[in-house]
Amino acid sequence: MRHTGTVLDPQSPLARYGRVLAVVALLIVGCSSAATVANPDASTSTRQANGQSATSDTTDTAPTTSSSSTSGAPDSSASSESSPAGVIGGESVGDPYFPNLGNTGYDVSSYDLDLRIDTEGADQLVGVATISFIATEDVDQISFDLRGLDVSDARLGDDAVETEQVGDKLRLRFAETLSAGSENVVAISYSGTPQLVDSTTRIGVIGWFDLGNNSVAVGEPFGAQTWYPVNDHPTDKATYTFTLDVPDPLVGVANGVLTADAPVDGRRITSWEMTDPMASYLATVTVGDYLLIDSDPAAEVDVFDAVPPRLNNVFEGDFGMTDEIIDVFSELFGPYPFDEYGVMVVDGNFSFALETQGRSIFSASFVDGDGSIERIVAHEIAHQWFGNHVSPATWQDIWLNEGFASYAEDLWIEFGRNGDVTALETRLLARAELAQSPAPGDPGPAGLFDQSVYRRGGLTLHALRLEVGDDAFFTMLRTWLDRFGGGSASTTDFIELAEEIHGSDLSNFFDAWLSDAPLPALPR
Ligand code: ARG
Ligand code: ZN
Repeated sequence: MRHTGTVLDPQSPLARYGRVLAVVALLIVGCSSAATVANPDASTSTRQANGQSATSDTTDTAPTTSSSSTSGAPDSSASSESSPAGVIGGESVGDPYFPNLGNTGYDVSSYDLDLRIDTEGADQLVGVATISFIATEDVDQISFDLRGLDVSDARLGDDAVETEQVGDKLRLRFAETLSAGSENVVAISYSGTPQLVDSTTRIGVIGWFDLGNNSVAVGEPFGAQTWYPVNDHPTDKATYTFTLDVPDPLVGVANGVLTADAPVDGRRITSWEMTDPMASYLATVTVGDYLLIDSDPAAEVDVFDAVPPRLNNVFEGDFGMTDEIIDVFSELFGPYPFDEYGVMVVDGNFSFALETQGRSIFSASFVDGDGSIERIVAHEIAHQWFGNHVSPATWQDIWLNEGFASYAEDLWIEFGRNGDVTALETRLLARAELAQSPAPGDPGPAGLFDQSVYRRGGLTLHALRLEVGDDAFFTMLRTWLDRFGGGSASTTDFIELAEEIHGSDLSNFFDAWLSDAPLPALPR
């Protein structure tokens, strides 16, 4: 799935607004599911890394403790639970900032999400999540993250699987041990009205935004679990397909390429395919009144946008540079990593944009056609390489996303707009001086999106460029993407790679720049 060596023509046509797409194929999705009230528990109960014991009654309220029966330590040879002989998968991947996230004992290969979505009434989401995964050890039970939705049925092939929802974990207990290395498919039926959840960062709530006649799922960092059962951590990337059944005249839009679009009985059903590995926080779905605009399908990277009709005539003014930005970044970083790019302009009033994979979310409130959001447009495109193709190994590594995307804004101005390098440097420095802490290398969970992560993180890369020279610097970026693309990597991985290419130690350099000590002087 690795893309290699395409060199893009730096001048690409700006002609956009081609045709509104019409596609064939038709997928009728039958989603049936018993419906009860959504789980009100959004508590922050603490999870242990392993050895959650399962009780057989289904409760969705009690915070978990690791008390009672078994304590399957990671290497535990036996759990005294029931018949099978494998272990109970752990309920944390050990993220230093969000220890509740993710689960162990398996590795997801793909999510196939069939979602019936309504914008009013009870149970606005009725879904079947078909999840393919490889057991990474002999397991009798695994967990997914799922918050505030009710599971009515789970199957392994044709066999019913015992389920239990405890806090934000959905446990699946299998009748037979799944052996290490085996590929398995579970189908989970669930429903409810998805909720928002406090991100505990400066961006406020995340999750499923109900905006009246439209809705949108905002994942970063742990909102995915508000709308599907998921191993909700960027270390477990997977491919996705989505089938979205929504009331006409609305349309559902997700990540990836549109593969089907059909009217069915007053509904509209679309299918979308993301064939490259994607971190859960980058998955999104939006439902609304959208024009689907496939501009210039012949271009090297196809651009496919979802735009509210009322913004159709100003859209180009803000997003007209997209092709050229992709071209410049492709030259600097290597080929665009996904099948297509685009944005979904959500009719709401968010204070942020989000780099959802292959199709970024923009707030309609940003879009007036005056071109003033050019840096943000470039920022979200840069994330497709930095954050999306190579994802952070833990949430502490957030500067690998935000520092890189922020510095890429300046690279766009420098290489795409012939910007004056001295002026760019002066600006970078001035802005970083105003946002020196928290340490971009360890901003803490609440500081994930603080300015220092973006600005000091970005200036760190400019300092690295001055320290090692342009050739080594851009080799580092390209090698990083080439080596870790499709997966996740850590700050330590980046420093080691930088040292490898530079040929000498850079630990003092990174320690100083990624800390919250006063800004070092730029290398000269
Ligand atoms: N990653 C976003 C960016 O492009 C910032 C955070 C957006 N909001 C969110 N819910 N994560 O800078
Ligand atoms: Zn960003």
